[in-house]
Amino acid sequence: MSNQNTGSAPYVLPPLPYADNALDPVISANTLGFHYGKHHKTYVDNLNKLVAGTDLADLSLEEIITSTAGKADKVGIFNNAAQVWNHTFYWNSLSPKGGGEPPASLKQKIETAFGSVEVCKKELATAATTQFGSGWAWLVNDGDKLQVIKTGNADLPLTKGMKPLLTIDVWEHAYYLDYQNRRADYVNAVLDKLINWGFAADNDK
Ligand SMILES: [Fe+2]
Repeated sequence: MSNQNTGSAPYVLPPLPYADNALDPVISANTLGFHYGKHHKTYVDNLNKLVAGTDLADLSLEEIITSTAGKADKVGIFNNAAQVWNHTFYWNSLSPKGGGEPPASLKQKIETAFGSVEVCKKELATAATTQFGSGWAWLVNDGDKLQVIKTGNADLPLTKGMKPLLTIDVWEHAYYLDYQNRRADYVNAVLDKLINWGFAADNDK
């Protein structure tokens, strides 16, 4: 799933992998309605407007992201393309049946890298709560070693040559309606109840 949304413009808003009330009460249908139906959709709409009639319209989403990263005159396109990608990846990083233990093969790699699943979750929570302002916390595979990173605004592991396994959105729009300023409460509830270890394991194959 890390290779997602390929294909050229017009880019589409992929359907949510569950009903909009399926993550309640950790993430309410109200939050999901705005986050998916307004924020994610707007990134898709903006991207389509920005690339219409340009050479970029022939590229896959990942190709747009990697070819515009770090280019001062393409910041708007990069930001919208990356946010389209990040949000689709985030929805799949969550599951109504999430939390619990990772599949055995991933669990072993987590234990090798972090010592235990609990320490890995703590590192994810720390990355998510210490990201200043908007951004993302990620579990990544970097050269066959798992690690936790955080990125600001729309940035993502693809620009660093790392393979993302799962992510948590820590933009305020991800939690403010349900948790107001309590980002840590949102992050810990997501890690305990929703995080989709099976998706992370599939991305590590
Ligand atoms: Fe978001």
